[in-house]
Amino acid sequence: TSVPVAVVGAGPAGLMLAHLLGRAGVDTVVVDTRTRQEIATTHRAGILEADVARDLVETGVSDRVVREGREHEGIELRFGGRPHRIDFKELVGASTWLYPQTDVFTDLADARERDGGTVLFGIEDTEVLDITTDAPRVRCTLSDGSRREIRARYVVGADGSRSTCRDLVPEDRRVRYGKEYPFAWFGIMAEAPASAPELVYAHSEHGFALISQRTDTVQRMYFQCAADELVDAWSDDRIWETLQARVAGQDGFRLTEGPVLEKTVLRFRSFVQEPMRWGSLTLAGDAAHTVPPTGARGLNLALHDVKVLADVLLRALGGEGDTALDDYQPRALQRIWRAQNFSSWMTRLLHTAPGDTSFDLRRRLGELDNVAGTRAGRRYLAEQYTGWPTGTRA
Ligand code: DHB
Repeated sequence: TSVPVAVVGAGPAGLMLAHLLGRAGVDTVVVDTRTRQEIATTHRAGILEADVARDLVETGVSDRVVREGREHEGIELRFGGRPHRIDFKELVGASTWLYPQTDVFTDLADARERDGGTVLFGIEDTEVLDITTDAPRVRCTLSDGSRREIRARYVVGADGSRSTCRDLVPEDRRVRYGKEYPFAWFGIMAEAPASAPELVYAHSEHGFALISQRTDTVQRMYFQCAADELVDAWSDDRIWETLQARVAGQDGFRLTEGPVLEKTVLRFRSFVQEPMRWGSLTLAGDAAHTVPPTGARGLNLALHDVKVLADVLLRALGGEGDTALDDYQPRALQRIWRAQNFSSWMTRLLHTAPGDTSFDLRRRLGELDNVAGTRAGRRYLAEQYTGWPTGTRA
């Protein structure tokens, strides 16, 4: 097979890129080691920026996000046992959409199928070759055992936080920036009605908790746990007791409990690799950068990357050649570091680190009060959380 662009990774970044290129008449082959079923059932984030939701509709992926997603005009911060609403609509005229990443994936995979795009799921032995030439190749074994070689002009590594594509940038020519966190998230799906109309980000002396949602009958919740926490050590009772303690307050707020359908420990870190391009290879989404989950930036950031990348790839293929690709990193990186800062800041704002002193705890309450108790603070949070317009340097 020979196509202008081969894409490694069929998550939202890889599929959205293929969709955007396909709309402009550029063929792609997208490959992924995971099966379609595996990707569609691995729970990930749940919040889309309004611009991302709009792009899904306007670029013709699907309008399901506005039909089945829920628009949220704010979030609640809880600390000191009290609720503090951050009203996005009033503060910055923006909103977000509750729409799970698994649904974004399904919409994109369906759109590829509808539009006749090639996506090879469940492949093995992926090799990306000749990226320093203008004839790179991707080789792999298909799920039926046959070998396939995809010849391309450009290869995109959209293969997620455990990317192998990013290792193709020579070690002495790349820089990796990163930070580990001394805690993780314990995530659950619970069968219960929603406990609150919007998302609740709670900080307590016991640590962080996030109350999110999925449907009228299934809720998504997370709480801060030890980095090496074991899922099996947590019974439903212990989970609910922990969550209730973290959201408890003078207002008597309680979560509506129900059977825990699923539980996972999610480790996370902050990470950026530069450069995001090496020869004919470009990196997009988590392959190039990952953020801690607080603030739900990861998926939004990945989709922003591919919007910029689709634009430069189309220019490159349209006659400008490789020089068009020089625009990718500078245009993507500003938002990446803004999001790195925001995700890391919101994580530190709401979590309690193992070695924190009594000073650290009191200072954090002061910071939370500065955020929730001043208009400038609320506005800062609202602006960062709802995203930045593409391409603006405001
Ligand atoms: C969800 C995850 C997040 O990291 C977040 O900040 C908000 C919502 C979620 O899975 O619903």
